[in-house]
Amino acid sequence: MRRLSLAERAAGKSVGFVPTMGALHEGHVSLMRRARAENDFVAVSIFVNPTQFGPGEDLERYPRDLERDLDLSAGAGVDAVFAPSAEEMYPKDFSSAVEPGAVAGPLEGASRPGHFRGVATVVAKLFNIVLPDRAYFGQKDAQQLAVIRNLVRGLNFGVQVVACPIVREPDGLAMSSRNAYLNPGERQAALCLARALKTAADLVADGERQATKVAAAMAEEIVEEPLAELDYAAVVDPDSFEDIEKITRPALALLAVRFGRTRLIDNLLLEPAGRSRAGRK
Ligand code: PAJ
Repeated sequence: MRRLSLAERAAGKSVGFVPTMGALHEGHVSLMRRARAENDFVAVSIFVNPTQFGPGEDLERYPRDLERDLDLSAGAGVDAVFAPSAEEMYPKDFSSAVEPGAVAGPLEGASRPGHFRGVATVVAKLFNIVLPDRAYFGQKDAQQLAVIRNLVRGLNFGVQVVACPIVREPDGLAMSSRNAYLNPGERQAALCLARALKTAADLVADGERQATKVAAAMAEEIVEEPLAELDYAAVVDPDSFEDIEKITRPALALLAVRFGRTRLIDNLLLEPAGRSRAGRK
């Protein structure tokens, strides 16, 4: 992989990179298309990274379909797919890791101890293998995106991180490889995430500025759904992921909800009215 990438770079070509865990869907494909449009050479990695799964999480049953993923990647114009084995990425004597920093502490970091350490470590490894100019990440995993930005800045990776919007099903459910776990009843119930985020946006559009009130309204929407079990509903600063009191600048509404054994996350940027787009930082 590195030889391929170095040859492209030596020829003056730009390298775009989309890291994934496979079970590809339109969300992943949107990242590949963006990378295709902005780079001469596009690499995708497919690796279900064991170090970012906690004990009791879904590492073993995580969906895997390499043949289908290769077809989808080819269809999106990807030049190279890097799909290493776990033994290749983590040989027996492997003992290094990246500390992900303060932004990895709350929310996903608190619910999934060690998760972001695993993400930061594998992304650092992948960057060193693929040597991209640009790397593409989905806003779907907003806190992961913040962890990666912090990693790139903190360890001087010299990779441009490109954030891509969340791709949703027609009924509003954010696309996720984990949606495949949902039975029909849970799939219907899962619409409460998008509904709760809309409630949050509507409240802010109507002038509500208290972050706790907006978070409570989201939680209420989830609690009303019998098949849903709320993990967290929060409104935070979109860069630091720290709690905020008042929504005076764009704030991030975040949800994590369980449906049986399936855990889903979603988020939406809340933009208080009266701020012109052009005037936004
Ligand atoms: P994975 O969950 O496969 O996601 C790969 C990339 O696709 C991530 O950047 C994610 O945010 C993006 N993505 C997923 N669903 C999306 C959607 N509905 N709309 C837009 N983008 C979406 O995230 C990971 O893998 C891993 O943690 C990884 C970064 C590969 C490290 O192992």
